[in-house]
Amino acid sequence: MTANTSSTFFVRSFSACLCLFLLAQITPSSALSQDESRKNTPKTSVSDRIKPIGEVYISDAPTIVQQPIDTNVDISPGEKIATAACLRCHSAGLMKSPKIGNHKDWAPRLKKGRETLYDHAINGHNKMPARGGKRNLSDNDIKAAVDHMLVGVK
Ligand code: HEC
Repeated sequence: MTANTSSTFFVRSFSACLCLFLLAQITPSSALSQDESRKNTPKTSVSDRIKPIGEVYISDAPTIVQQPIDTNVDISPGEKIATAACLRCHSAGLMKSPKIGNHKDWAPRLKKGRETLYDHAINGHNKMPARGGKRNLSDNDIKAAVDHMLVGVK
């Protein structure tokens, strides 16, 4: 009975040990295979899998359609010069300068005579800088600009 019991005990404990041993063999390999399966999963597939179902498409900046320049509109040379060199002050009436298009501002000045206004525009007058500060403009350029300012002024 004792021998039988001890042999039974031995068999049981041996098989238990074997079981543990086998388990120890299986576990790491299965864990490894899991790791490998993770490694083999391409990274993009994760983001693919978790991305939202719908996607909002935001278009690029709105296209600005350039209007063709109306070549029939003729801008006089005087207007071009005045726009480039004189508008800075004469559009808003800076430093009490006569405003372009305001006939009330210009009428009393025109009474001095057109030649005087040319002279003041070319050589300066009080706070009016000579040639509007644009030295590269010729006398005729300045006269053309003054004529533009005086259009319709009586
Ligand atoms: C920095 C500002 C400024 C710019 C630029 C300027 N003006 Fe003037 N202009 C004045 C001011 C200020 C007066 C008023 C001067 C006064 O009567 O005391 C004036 C007056 C005038 C007058 C009237 C002068 C008079 O005797 O009554 C004419 C003409 C004139 N400007 C022409 C021009 C022209 C042409 C240009 C561009 C080429 C021009 N101005 C650019 C400031 C400016």
